[in-house]
Amino acid sequence: MLKIVIAGATGFIGQKLTSRLLDSQTYVVVLTRKPASGRTTKHARLSYGQWDGKTQGDWTQHIDGADAVVNLSGQSVASRRWSKTRKQQLYSSRIDSTNALVEAIGASRVKPSVLLNASAVGYYGHIEQGAVTEEHQPGNDFLGRLCADWESAALAARAFGVRVVLLRTGIVLDPEGGALQRMIFPFKLFAGGPLGSGEQWFPWIHEEDEIRAILYTLERSSLSGPVNLSASESTTMREFSNALGSALHRPSALRIPAFMLRFLLGEMADVVLSGQQVVPQKLMKDGFEFRFPTLPGALADLLR
Ligand SMILES: NC(=O)c1ccc[n+]([C@@H]2O[C@H](COP(=O)([O-])OP(=O)(O)OC[C@H]3O[C@@H](n4cnc5c(N)ncnc54)[C@H](OP(=O)(O)O)[C@@H]3O)[C@@H](O)[C@H]2O)c1
Repeated sequence: MLKIVIAGATGFIGQKLTSRLLDSQTYVVVLTRKPASGRTTKHARLSYGQWDGKTQGDWTQHIDGADAVVNLSGQSVASRRWSKTRKQQLYSSRIDSTNALVEAIGASRVKPSVLLNASAVGYYGHIEQGAVTEEHQPGNDFLGRLCADWESAALAARAFGVRVVLLRTGIVLDPEGGALQRMIFPFKLFAGGPLGSGEQWFPWIHEEDEIRAILYTLERSSLSGPVNLSASESTTMREFSNALGSALHRPSALRIPAFMLRFLLGEMADVVLSGQQVVPQKLMKDGFEFRFPTLPGALADLLR
């Protein structure tokens, strides 16, 4: 039986991944900062380790002998305005947790064969035109620099003979959480529309394909380094907004201008105002088949 340690497993993506792994007879150890009293899930093949996301401790015993480590840790990028302190938290919650995991991997006697580490398409910064594959250079904005440092921290595990996969994820679509849940709300009030000019790329992935792709990279020893996790069909923000309006039977004409978003959200507005035409080249070359390659099909499934 496989044993997989997941840090950040209590979050949006981690809960789904954990549940899928438990369905497939895997033993899962959840690394969380939450104390035991705050945990509710009971499952025979699920256990918990408590860590602080920074320092070594008793939790490192779970890494020793695990088959794989998945790191999804990090404070939410889109939940609060980016003050200087907030940016520091966004940065340290990712770099410190990754460093702590890599250190524990280095110190373990029986090392995992693979580390899957979260990253994001924000790695590339804002790119107006042209397909963006895994070979593209990092952007020079806050998210680009953050992702580049995050990935470097994870790649340090290669020194211990561990395969490292950098999960450069796009916007994960799920009506019960994340970006889609927030975007649906104004549409339901007949006040939906594209954010910013609408011309920026909107690299999305259906939550089902996100989890399937993570599991795929876990199994495929041929895959390593950065892997783009976004749908194979590219969409602009305007196309996304029109498709969402159409799926919800609501208008999608009320554009929110960039200056208003910057006024309301500050630098955090970059998350929706910048984008890239991300191509999941490595997954496609390796033969991964998206279950939801097109937006209308994905939205029809998510909003049924
Ligand atoms: N969702 C998306 O659309 C998307 C897109 C691109 C990239 N990503 C990246 O993928 C990863 C998982 O995304 P998600 O949406 O599942 O995130 P999420 O729901 O915000 O969950 C992240 C988890 O990280 C842990 N965490 C928070 N602050 C931490 C800190 N200071 N130190 C250590 N751990 C901390 C939390 O677990 P505990 O409280 O249990 O410790 C939390 O459950 C994140 O790194 C995110 O940036 C997500």
